[in-house]
Amino acid sequence: MKRSPPFLDWVGAVGLILCLTQSVLATVLTNSSRLESILDKYREKDEGGWKARSRGRRAISEGDKHLILDLHNKLRGQVHPPASNMEYMVWDYELERSAEHWAYSCRWEHGPSHMLTQIGQNLGTHWGRDRPPTYHVQAWYDEVRYYSYPYSQECNPHCPFRCSGPVCTHYTQLVWATSNRIGCAINVCYNMNVWGMIWAKAVYLVCNYSPPGNWWGHAPYKYGAPCSACPASYAGGCRNNLCYKEGGVDRHPAHEIEETNYIEPEPEPVRDREPEPRAQTPNPSPNDNIERNQVVSTEQMSQQVECETKLRDQCKGTTCNRYECPPGCLERSGKVVGTEYYDMQSSVCGAALHSGVIDNDGGWLDVTRLGRKQYFTKSYKNSIQSIGKNRSANSFKVDSVPVKAVRCDTTVALFCPFKKPVRHCPRLYCPRNCLNDNQARVFGTKYYSDKSSICKAAIHAGVIQNESGGYLDVMPMDKRRQYSGSYQNGISSESVSNPTGGKAFRVFTVI
Ligand SMILES: *[C@@H]1O[C@H](CO)[C@@H](O)[C@H](O)[C@H]1NC(C)=O
Ligand SMILES: *[C@@H]1O[C@H](CO)[C@@H](O)[C@H](O)[C@H]1NC(C)=O
Ligand SMILES: *[C@@H]1O[C@H](CO)[C@@H](O)[C@H](O)[C@H]1NC(C)=O
Repeated sequence: MKRSPPFLDWVGAVGLILCLTQSVLATVLTNSSRLESILDKYREKDEGGWKARSRGRRAISEGDKHLILDLHNKLRGQVHPPASNMEYMVWDYELERSAEHWAYSCRWEHGPSHMLTQIGQNLGTHWGRDRPPTYHVQAWYDEVRYYSYPYSQECNPHCPFRCSGPVCTHYTQLVWATSNRIGCAINVCYNMNVWGMIWAKAVYLVCNYSPPGNWWGHAPYKYGAPCSACPASYAGGCRNNLCYKEGGVDRHPAHEIEETNYIEPEPEPVRDREPEPRAQTPNPSPNDNIERNQVVSTEQMSQQVECETKLRDQCKGTTCNRYECPPGCLERSGKVVGTEYYDMQSSVCGAALHSGVIDNDGGWLDVTRLGRKQYFTKSYKNSIQSIGKNRSANSFKVDSVPVKAVRCDTTVALFCPFKKPVRHCPRLYCPRNCLNDNQARVFGTKYYSDKSSICKAAIHAGVIQNESGGYLDVMPMDKRRQYSGSYQNGISSESVSNPTGGKAFRVFTVI
């Protein structure tokens, strides 16, 4: 059996912009005293402020714990159609502690990955306006509008990077009948990266559930008269439509969990696309929108490789920098030679797993070639055994791909100028509406001068759209003699010949 992939729920800048008027938005952004009040609540407090626990400070107040738990049980007792086997949920301090660890990581993603096979997890974050933690719980529940009992297949969002389309897995986890334990934590995260937008102060809620729900193709609960199909361990007890036993029921035996909790990673929709030639020129498709001379580029910088692909076979010229590994490489990573730096004969994805840059869900990584090394050491790391070698060979290292939000006028010259032998730019996120930024200039076509606005060049190249902004990859390059201007996507880029100093760059689509 496999489980639905986890999705992220967020409430932030975009949510506020969409649902509030300008004047309210301004208040939200500028009135920090309200934000301070919620932040204070979760800053360091003496132990007296929290219910005593051996480790002292907790990442959730007793009051919020009750609010979250009570709302869960209230919502679980009121599902429609009614549930015959919905179990009463109790607080679990182990789950709370694991949620706390993750909340402290301030990473806007599900994790830690080794626990996701054993727990369910819902996440929420917001900034600005003070909101009770139940705000997120209610938002998870409200996904019910995209859900029709019993199956959730029709609610299947498209999630290459940031989900769009209806999500309902928060709802189905919340009302998963057998998930009878919960533990949550709240942390205030500074400079949290929420899909490339850096939130100065984000309130981050993590709720972990056990046993986990969201088994693929299974309904979250059985339909029928409330409490008519409770597990025997409840001995017939029922309270507010929930299977209930004073003092709680025994935990589900551990072996049961182990038997069923293998998560088979769902192939993401993004990986279903047609394979593309690795290195091609942009593919401008002339459109009937003559007025803006619309062009679209679908060329990607990151190369999709197989689990076993050796770097040596997939590293030609300057294209050897960013790679995307599929999920499931732990079982078939191919040979890995070295530790920290690896022989070029090593599998790219294997080296990335070994260095902890990706996990079994796959993902992106940056490669830097390090030239010849005299020897390579073996080690066992992150479930990968690498081998040693006492013979000189060309080497490389792998790094994770950071994501940074930039402004319309950010240039490569300022942000990540070209350097030899290779310079990795973070993956970038451009805001909307860079077209209207008159300060931001663009020089060139396809190859842009590094004095150009990155975001505007990306619109010019057809990599992102003015109306939505979005993600892109940047490849800094050595200087060129000639940058030719052109009119594309409503932008007139300028021409420059033999500029003194300054390098070049290209922009690429992120799918
Ligand atoms: C900011 O929030 C505080 C606390 O809620 C409130 O007392 C104050 O009037 C607000 N200030 C403005 C400018 O809205
Ligand atoms: C590696 O080889 C060199 C020379 O061939 C030798 O001197 C050295 O001891 C070897 N190192 C290991 C760890 O085997
Ligand atoms: C660019 O996008 C913004 C935001 O969506 C929009 O208001 C503006 O009209 C667009 N500009 C052009 C020239 O299309």
